[in-house]
Amino acid sequence: MSDHPSTYQPNSGIERWLDTRLPIIRFGADLMSFPTPRNLNYWYTFGAILAFCLGVQIVTGIVLAMHYDPSGVGAFMSVQRGIMRDVNYGWLLRGIHANGASMFFLAVYLHILRGLYYGSYKAPREVLWLLGCVIYVLMMATAFMGYVLPWGQMSFWGAKVITSLFGAFPVIGKPLTELLWGGFAVDDPTLTRFFSLHYLLPFVIAAVVALHIWALHVPGNANPTGVEVKSKSDTLPFHPYYTVKDLFAISVFMILFAVFVFYMPEALGKVDNQVMADPLKTPAQIVPEWYLLPFYAILRAIPDKLTGVLALAGALGMLFILPWLDTSKVRSMRYRPQYRLFFFIWIVACAALGWCGSQEPDGQILEGVKTFTLIDADLNSVTWLSRFASIYYFAYFLVITPVLGLTEKPLPVPDSLYTPVLSHPAGAPAGAAAAPETKG
Ligand code: HEM
Repeated sequence: MSDHPSTYQPNSGIERWLDTRLPIIRFGADLMSFPTPRNLNYWYTFGAILAFCLGVQIVTGIVLAMHYDPSGVGAFMSVQRGIMRDVNYGWLLRGIHANGASMFFLAVYLHILRGLYYGSYKAPREVLWLLGCVIYVLMMATAFMGYVLPWGQMSFWGAKVITSLFGAFPVIGKPLTELLWGGFAVDDPTLTRFFSLHYLLPFVIAAVVALHIWALHVPGNANPTGVEVKSKSDTLPFHPYYTVKDLFAISVFMILFAVFVFYMPEALGKVDNQVMADPLKTPAQIVPEWYLLPFYAILRAIPDKLTGVLALAGALGMLFILPWLDTSKVRSMRYRPQYRLFFFIWIVACAALGWCGSQEPDGQILEGVKTFTLIDADLNSVTWLSRFASIYYFAYFLVITPVLGLTEKPLPVPDSLYTPVLSHPAGAPAGAAAAPETKG
């Protein structure tokens, strides 16, 4: 669909004048009329929801920065007293920004899961997928640095744990960590540079999102069947069909968002962060935000620090190389029942990792399951569950995906994405002959 011809006609002299100098209205009009597969479901609204989340984070973040003091002595009070109590609607701005980060990650996880399920990462959309992976890593870095800014106990100790990980690398580890710290420990200079980068990165993300959308518009959207668009009758103009659908999805998403902001603004935060950072008092448990917990569990599952850090990086790396690991000719899991089963188990493994990441490493959580003493007397059930889930996480990408792509016999794939739309009871226009029944 990259050869989508422009249908824009300038209506006035000013529009014609601008069109020959900077065809920005034509650009917008072409985006609105972009031929989009007619069978996109609500899982395809998360891209728009993510764009909305990014906008909300940038706008609220800029206003918060006007009242924030990025210094060791001032940061905590500027947030807890200044923003939360003195600034007009400061509590609301902070509530939206802090919970907005969680909402952003919720949306990005659903967006990624959609991509995995429907095989959106496969050719010719590898670059689109890779750009998405870059956005995800940038989001993690931004969220981590943002979490440090309130300079509470969890901010400080979280920064210490995560930045110290860089020290695990031989030779470059120490200078790299000191560069991050701006000295020999997490202190004022660390806070200042994290503030600067936390302000910068969302704009970098916005730039990568622009590339992401560009890369989307070259091959055009994929769709739940995984069958490529073949003719104009497979598509609808983006506006009004998908603008309305996206706006409706954003509205529903905003209700969930508002429930967190207005009814449980602290539910996703940590109580320890209401206490000012104290380098002499380590909290009983140092845990990151929920969206980073699975990676934290992978890190802790391995006793050797460097291997743990490499496993964490490798877990992210799996997403980057996925387009080249999947050997199947069929794109969508709708037609791959076996792979779909392994995918659902992979989601359970990720959830298990998330749970393990939230537990104390030495806690004996699974009463009665602590029978692993035969294997290693010092390790508890949480550690072992993290290990099994981590192994499955990697096996899914490195073994199951390439092998099953070659061995699995997929269900029959429709020859056109139009076929399942017409065979759906709601999809057939009155009087149209329904196409033969197709799975999906
Ligand atoms: C700020 C973050 C992001 C924004 C604003 C964004 C935006 C969008 C938009 C608007 C679309 C088209 C509508 C849709 O399919 O939902 C899209 C599609 C897509 N995105 Fe993202 N995205 C983001 C992050 C990611 C991430 C982290 C990944 C993967 C790691 C990713 C992978 C994809 C893929 C593969 C498609 C194509 C789907 C298809 O055509 O089947 N995106 N994105």
